[in-house]
Amino acid sequence: MRKAMSEAAVGDDVLGEDPTITRLEEAAAEMFNMESGLFVASGTQGNLLALFSHCQRGDEYIAGQAAHNYLEEGGGGAILASIQPQPVPNEVDGTLSLDRVRDLIKPDDFHYARTRLLCLENTWHGRPLPLDYLDDARNLTRVHKLALHLDGARVFNAAVRQQVEVSSITSRFDSISACLSKGLGAPVGSVLCGSRIFIDSARRWRKVLGGGWRQAGVLAAAGLYVLEHHIERLAMDHHHAALLAESLAEIEELSVDNLPERTNMVWVEVPQWSLADLAPSLRKEGVLISMDDYPLRLVTHLDINETGIRTATRAFKKYFFKRKPA
Ligand SMILES: Cc1ncc(COP(=O)(O)O)c(C=O)c1O
Repeated sequence: MRKAMSEAAVGDDVLGEDPTITRLEEAAAEMFNMESGLFVASGTQGNLLALFSHCQRGDEYIAGQAAHNYLEEGGGGAILASIQPQPVPNEVDGTLSLDRVRDLIKPDDFHYARTRLLCLENTWHGRPLPLDYLDDARNLTRVHKLALHLDGARVFNAAVRQQVEVSSITSRFDSISACLSKGLGAPVGSVLCGSRIFIDSARRWRKVLGGGWRQAGVLAAAGLYVLEHHIERLAMDHHHAALLAESLAEIEELSVDNLPERTNMVWVEVPQWSLADLAPSLRKEGVLISMDDYPLRLVTHLDINETGIRTATRAFKKYFFKRKPA
């Protein structure tokens, strides 16, 4: 990847003259079966540009109550685009009840914001959304003339786990934002794809938000590299996560999730008494965990091999076997 980055042809992308960025945008659009693509700085920027481009000021988007683009993106749509969010509780599998969504679509009445967009997230906490649910969501949005956006930060994990072409997921949507970072392993960047008109609008808003690239082909080269080399290997991350879940489940103090279609995440509940010193103890064994999420969210990726999984499991076992409360 570093070699590809160092050899990338570059140009001024604000003027549409960076050939590597253009190649990345075209490659992503083709993969997702969309007309056009846009290289953006982050998943957050991709999701925000989708809001800007599907909605006008005073419109509304429906999203999961715990969805990244409602809960964890600083309220950008409301703050910067004057778009009102309408959250809906996420079911455990990440779907939104379509009956609830239907009930929340506002009538055409000036008392209400105009509902324009439904957003889904895939994978959801490490689970792919069911494909037949995507069809139902698509049908609902067609009937009610809403656009359908996918926060596909980890959509390649979903496609690999479901053994389908990624386009068979994304072609059910009007737009998708997918991360090249995270599991795919690029240092930075996401791609936003959709119709040509949609991407023209997103490109304009990206510039307004200060996100126009200059000679960023070096970054796009990393994105192209991961699209070419790091998708199929996600199955290895899924295998590692399954291994990790299985080994941690042997520790009686832990409650490990039982995800039916696990991709690269393992969710672990630890006893209250371990919260204070678990992370520093694991750190001494060379295992870094963040206690920001609870249950703990352990994520496998291309820098974690089977030896790493064994090291992590050993560190957890050592901690809990030593510290059983009297
Ligand atoms: C589901 C999901 N969507 C979007 C994002 C935002 O991506 P970024 O960190 O590149 O802004 C994240 C980041 O963790 C995420 O998990």
